[in-house]
Amino acid sequence: MLYPNSWYPLCTTGEVKKGEVISREAFGFRLAIFRTVGNQLGLLESRCSHIGADLSRGRVDKDCLVCPLHNWSFNVQGECVHIPCTDKIPPKAGQRSLVCMEHYGVVYAYLGAKPKFPLPKFPDLNKYVISGVTTIDFDASYEMAVANSFDEQHLSTVHRRNVIGEQKISSSSDYNFSIEYRADITPHTIYDKILHMMGIKQNHMLLDCWGGNILLFSHLGTRNLMIISLLPVGKVCTRAYITTVTTSGQGLVSSITDWLRVRLMHAFTMMFVSQDVKALQGMDFKIDNMLPVHDTTMLKWYQHWLKLPRKPAWGADQTSSTQLVSHGTKKT
Ligand code: FES
Ligand SMILES: [Fe+2]
Repeated sequence: MLYPNSWYPLCTTGEVKKGEVISREAFGFRLAIFRTVGNQLGLLESRCSHIGADLSRGRVDKDCLVCPLHNWSFNVQGECVHIPCTDKIPPKAGQRSLVCMEHYGVVYAYLGAKPKFPLPKFPDLNKYVISGVTTIDFDASYEMAVANSFDEQHLSTVHRRNVIGEQKISSSSDYNFSIEYRADITPHTIYDKILHMMGIKQNHMLLDCWGGNILLFSHLGTRNLMIISLLPVGKVCTRAYITTVTTSGQGLVSSITDWLRVRLMHAFTMMFVSQDVKALQGMDFKIDNMLPVHDTTMLKWYQHWLKLPRKPAWGADQTSSTQLVSHGTKKT
């Protein structure tokens, strides 16, 4: 399966430490993610291009990942830079690689040859604090999990929030799909009861989706922001990375209260998300029976997702449908 060209979350920033390598499954592949001693991140296909040892069981030496079997060394671009037994590096001695970046506490890799859009940020958020990242695994396709965020019916049936009027749909690029709406909050959960006690009986949401898998939620008029990004571990196995973000004030007192507030908001966020997870586990997503009016937003998002560019990266092995970039080393 070819996945859309996008930034995909692979691990939290704390999971891959300087001078260490970890293993991850994604897109049906095993990957080795490492951080060099100089703090550069690298992501390589785990199967060594020599005879196939697992690079995620190797070690980091300065700027390279070293294979555990014959100690071939690969840099973050996947180029083979050293073979202990010879000076002649063969042309096929290179690992497929992806570009990595850290963002709101998560390490992302761009699936494709060259990033077509930057990692999305919350606008006007100069100084911020994040909650820490929660991950959730579930047995359903990632596109279904994203489609759920655009499912208007589930807002009332799962979350007891009733949309007022129409959802406003917009798109700022081929990779973006956004909706804005207002919803009445029913005091059903502890979180929603607290909101009612605070006089908040309605919320105004902006939901910004990038690359088909990164969702930025903004509660407009408040400092409550959330980013959920989805990783297709396999065809029907998905991992969600969830981070709550809020603006941060100046001074020590403010940093302590901001720290506490963002964690409390995150706990409430996770209660909200757990309602979705309960309803979505084991779902076999199908679209042919969607209702023309009530499922319109979800259907439009799905049509947008189908049209997202999915070009294999330059040099990719088309026969295996992989989108990892191939970095063979020049002939010597
Ligand atoms: S299998 Fe990796 S160097 Fe030989
Ligand atoms: Fe939901």
